[in-house]
Amino acid sequence: MEKVTIIDLVKKKGREKIVMVTAYDYAFARLVDKAGVDAILVGDSVGMVMHGLKSTLPVSMDDMIHHVKAVVAAKPRALVIGDMPFLSYETSIEDAIRNAGLLVKAGAEAVKLEGGIEMADRVKAIVNAGIPVMGHIGLTPQRYLRFGGYRRRGRRIEEAKKIIEDAKALEEAGVFAIVIEFTAAEVAKAITEEVNVPTICIGSGPYCDGQVLVLHDILGLYEEIPSFAKKYADLSKIVIEAISQYAYEVRNELFPSKEHYFTMKEKDRKLFLKE
Ligand code: KIV
Repeated sequence: MEKVTIIDLVKKKGREKIVMVTAYDYAFARLVDKAGVDAILVGDSVGMVMHGLKSTLPVSMDDMIHHVKAVVAAKPRALVIGDMPFLSYETSIEDAIRNAGLLVKAGAEAVKLEGGIEMADRVKAIVNAGIPVMGHIGLTPQRYLRFGGYRRRGRRIEEAKKIIEDAKALEEAGVFAIVIEFTAAEVAKAITEEVNVPTICIGSGPYCDGQVLVLHDILGLYEEIPSFAKKYADLSKIVIEAISQYAYEVRNELFPSKEHYFTMKEKDRKLFLKE
C-alpha cells in the first residue's frame, strides 16, 4: 500500500469520502493506520485527551513535536498532519514558518492551523516555504476565550457569510484541505461546493468531503463526548475489566502462572539452593 499524499486527498474531493482521525502515540497510530484511515491528525486536542488539560491553550510546540515523533515512529501509510498549537503561528509570519518547519522536521507531512482571513498571510508563507497547510474554520477551539466558549457557528447569516469568506481566503492562500468544526450543515455544504479543496468536517454535517473525529471519543475512553461525536466502542469498560481481572489475579496469587516465568537449570538450581 502506497503512502497517502496531499495529492491523494485532494483527488478524493467529490469522488470518495476522506477519513481522518486523531492519534497521539505510537501504539494507536499503528492501530488507526491498520484500520485504513486516510489521514492521522496529531491534534492539539492531545492536551485535553492525553494530558487532562481544560483547553488546548497550554499545549506547546515541544508537546506537539513529542507526539508527532511518536506517531511517525509507527510509519503510517496515512498522511500525518501536525497541529500548530496556540501562539505558534499568530505572533509573526517568521514564527509560523519556523514552527511549521519544526513539525515537519519531527516527521509531519503537513500542518494544520486555526483561523480564516486573519491567518491567510501565515498560510501563504508556510505554503511558500514548501509545507502543505490544512485550514481550520468554524469553531476554532484555540479562540474559545474570544468567542465566549465552544459555541455552534454559522447559525446566523452574518456569521455564515464570514465562515464562507474564511474558507475562500484559505483556498486563495494555498491550503490543501479545510477542517470545518461545529458549523451549521448548510454552511459546510456551501463551502464544500464553492471551494476546490476538500472539506473535512467535525460536527458540521454530512455534506463535506470527509470527516474527522477525536480518537478518544470514537473509542469511548471517556464517559462524556461532544454532542457531534460518536462512540464506536466502549474501551473504558474493556480497560477497567482487564485491569480489575489482573488486580484480582495478583491479589489471589493466580498470576503469574507457570507459563509466565522460568526456572533455573536443574543442576544449577540444586547448587544455588545449597549455597
Ligand atoms: O486538535 C484536534 O483534534 C482538532 C480536531 C478536532 C479537528 O483540531
